[in-house]
Amino acid sequence: MEKKLTESELLEKEKKYCSHGDTVHYLEPPKFFERCEGSYLYDRENTAFLDLQMWYSAASFGYKNERLGNALKKQVDKLPQLACQYLHPEKVELAEKIAKSMERLFGESGRVHFNVGGAQAVEDALKLVRNATKRNLMFAFMGGYHGRTLGASAITSSYRYRRRYGHFSDRAQFVPYPYCYRCPYDKKYPDCGMYCVKQFEKLFETEYNGVLDNKTGEAEYGAFFVESIQGTGGYVIPPKEYFPMLKKILDKHKILLVDDEIQMGFHRAGKLWGMANFNVIPDVVVFGKALTNGLNPLSGIWAKEELISPKVFPAGSTHSTFSSNTLGTAIGLELMKMLEEQDYEKKIMEKGKSFLGRLKSLQKKYPRVIGDVDGLGLALRMEIVQKDGYAPDRELADKIFAEGMKGDLRGKDGKKIGLVLDVGGYYKNVFTIAPCFDITESEMDLAEDLFDQLIRRCAKDRI
Ligand SMILES: Cc1ncc(COP(=O)(O)O)c(C=O)c1O
Repeated sequence: MEKKLTESELLEKEKKYCSHGDTVHYLEPPKFFERCEGSYLYDRENTAFLDLQMWYSAASFGYKNERLGNALKKQVDKLPQLACQYLHPEKVELAEKIAKSMERLFGESGRVHFNVGGAQAVEDALKLVRNATKRNLMFAFMGGYHGRTLGASAITSSYRYRRRYGHFSDRAQFVPYPYCYRCPYDKKYPDCGMYCVKQFEKLFETEYNGVLDNKTGEAEYGAFFVESIQGTGGYVIPPKEYFPMLKKILDKHKILLVDDEIQMGFHRAGKLWGMANFNVIPDVVVFGKALTNGLNPLSGIWAKEELISPKVFPAGSTHSTFSSNTLGTAIGLELMKMLEEQDYEKKIMEKGKSFLGRLKSLQKKYPRVIGDVDGLGLALRMEIVQKDGYAPDRELADKIFAEGMKGDLRGKDGKKIGLVLDVGGYYKNVFTIAPCFDITESEMDLAEDLFDQLIRRCAKDRI
């Protein structure tokens, strides 16, 4: 029998043979896991870790989801491989289901184009916009995240993701996002009168603001890439009136709205598409992550017919070897069927309310540790702050995160347990909480208790 390597032997090899350019070494030492189920990851000692980030929302429907796993196994036995230049039924049926969901929620007909990862689908959206508008400049939000390929990095706000890679001539123009808890304009909602949108509108008042040719009325920008709720930016939820006001301005200047649903799509924020919460019809929607619940990856874009019809986006406009792979489309199709059979929106809104209630009681108990808590559906946020109750405390957030990963908290049964969190936000002080959609009330109680244990351990001086 082959010898099982110890964790320290594996770490030695990792040190020598693995690139450290990914995010593994955000945590030192990095953590190994052995198996997963439902809301839990298990390490090599079989210690359970309650996961409150579910692979950044890619495994929203639960680890080892049996139905989706079976769809994968069935396809492995039937049609595990097929060049994407040929058709298979699942691709067509999945595209239909996604397109029909757009018709239902946004009243628009259109088509779907598949790819593999999220950033690749963002690249396809960039190509589509450039092709349709013949403009290569984009607006995007401060705090926005669209992935790490070169094109996606160019419209992602962080310079940190670009700095090693030279000049980005088509870097987006970044616009402040309505992050009301820390308003970029130091205003207070609703007294602000939506000052931020009005500032954006002002850009178009004169040609000297650099976005519009006033003589022809043509904008230099093709699209505005947005997340309906900022993901990596810290699960920031905009006020209801923001996107309708923004869309009006964009429509006036023939600038497309590209809605990146890679993290919020597939019910994370209650509705199937996050933007459906905000009464706005996007021109292009980008999706990925939870479509296959983290199994064989699949992503894609949907666009309004006039942007993606074969006349304007003909054969070969974009392509990737694995783009509409048979395994991913089989899982995606099963997932869409699953969504039709159950009222996920209702379930997620109820669970979200229940979870947010627990976060609010923690905030009440620890006002010198927790600033804002908020949520829509099961996209929840908790800001870790300094003693004054407002200034961001990145150091403490990092400490809580690292302690949770040690796996030495105590469950109700007295057994050792860990807590998996993800830190995001503009100041890296926000826990972006994305629990499994099947999280139970008792798991939510456990989550509250584990947060409590972590705060008592890491912020003794504040409680
Ligand atoms: C909103 C958003 N867009 C794009 C991406 C990039 O997706 P991927 O990591 O699959 O390339 C992410 C990933 O976190 C995301 O959250």
